Amino acid sequence: MTHSRLNLVLTTLLVAVLAAAAFSRTDRARPNDEFLPDMKYSLAYAAFEAHPQLPNQRTMQPPVAGTIARGETPLHYAATPEDALRAGAELANPCAPGTPERTASQERGRQQYQHFCTACHGPQGLGDGPVSKRGFPPPPSLQTGKSVGMLDGQLFHILTYGQNTMPSFAAQLDVQRRWDLINFVRTLQQPVTATPVPGP
Ligand code: HEC
Repeated sequence: MTHSRLNLVLTTLLVAVLAAAAFSRTDRARPNDEFLPDMKYSLAYAAFEAHPQLPNQRTMQPPVAGTIARGETPLHYAATPEDALRAGAELANPCAPGTPERTASQERGRQQYQHFCTACHGPQGLGDGPVSKRGFPPPPSLQTGKSVGMLDGQLFHILTYGQNTMPSFAAQLDVQRRWDLINFVRTLQQPVTATPVPGP
């Protein structure tokens, strides 16, 4: 085959390919043909999808009345100082002091504290976080304030329902995390001078 013939064949092929591409222009907003897509798309309804068979047309159903989901702790308190006292008397810390569970809980709490609390309460709980220095009412010290004398359940009530300008953290922190934070805050409250310092 001479060069000129080869060029002619290649040019013809190129034109044919371009013409085919132009005529078979597909809708680019839609996926291309898929090979065996059965495993890719689930037949199950997605959580927030409408469901034609269910009574309220919703796939995700509310919990059955009178039932408690596994791992859920129903709380029957109002966001009042009286109920904070009642929570103090009634709620028990799931991690007893001195146990390995308590140590693990404190460690988790330390991380949560950095994410959720330092902005206002400061790294040591002194109420000197950056938010408090820019106009937000500074919180009392967690090391020496009223919280030292509060029962664990009372602190749990504050984290769950808030207290005055302190917001509720129930939406961000599940029950276990709230206890983890309380267990960490307790470590802040142990005065540093409790460890005997050797004299000169
Ligand atoms: C937006 C700022 C802000 C954040 C974030 C915040 N707090 Fe507070 N907190 C406050 C303020 C302000 C008060 C004082 C409320 C009052 O006047 O009773 C307070 C009060 C408290 C108290 C009661 C102290 C006392 O002596 O009455 C505890 C305990 C507490 N916060 C723990 C936490 C923990 C744990 C976190 C992290 C999950 C947190 N707070 C996150 C602002 C904040």
